[in-house]
Amino acid sequence: MTDNTTSLTAHSRAAAWQLLTEWTAGESLRKHALGVETCVLAYAHQEADRLALTGQPRAELLNLYATTALLHDFDYERHPSLEEHPFVGVGELERLGWPLALRTAILGHAGYSGTPRVTHLDKTLFACDELSGFLTACARVKPSKSIAEVEVASVRRKLKDKAFARGVNREDVIQGAAEMGIELDAHIAICLAAMQARAAELGL
Ligand SMILES: [Fe+2]
Repeated sequence: MTDNTTSLTAHSRAAAWQLLTEWTAGESLRKHALGVETCVLAYAHQEADRLALTGQPRAELLNLYATTALLHDFDYERHPSLEEHPFVGVGELERLGWPLALRTAILGHAGYSGTPRVTHLDKTLFACDELSGFLTACARVKPSKSIAEVEVASVRRKLKDKAFARGVNREDVIQGAAEMGIELDAHIAICLAAMQARAAELGL
């Protein structure tokens, strides 16, 4: 980090949201970004507590996690191929001066990029990406379509049901929790609670 004040202003959550929505017209991909941000932020608060961060350093950590999550798929609508996503986006983020930690985590969330997941942020983004989408799918099949009705046990059952939400890679969900060193049930509970707390904004 060089100039914290400048980077916080230039690379704020609002700036990330603006960039995301400039590149992404689709409502579901925007909602996905918000869902992942919600789960990632739950872990960001835990990490900030662990590091006993307050004030500006805490705000910067939360901002880094939130912006990383919001931007992790921002190039996907324009460049969905494995050759281009997330590489084109990360190139653009570098050009715009977004921090290395954010860009590394975004590369690392794509297993095929060859970028290892080393930091807490790297691991958190990967662990929350597929699970957030899966929790959204679990809410959508409830009669009320409300995530308030989703429970950890039913999420576990649906993870075993291969016909349900086929697009979600179960191994990534399991591996994500393992990399963070957290039990899968606990991971689901943390992400579920975070998404339930922000249900209105997530359209769930
Ligand atoms: Fe994603």
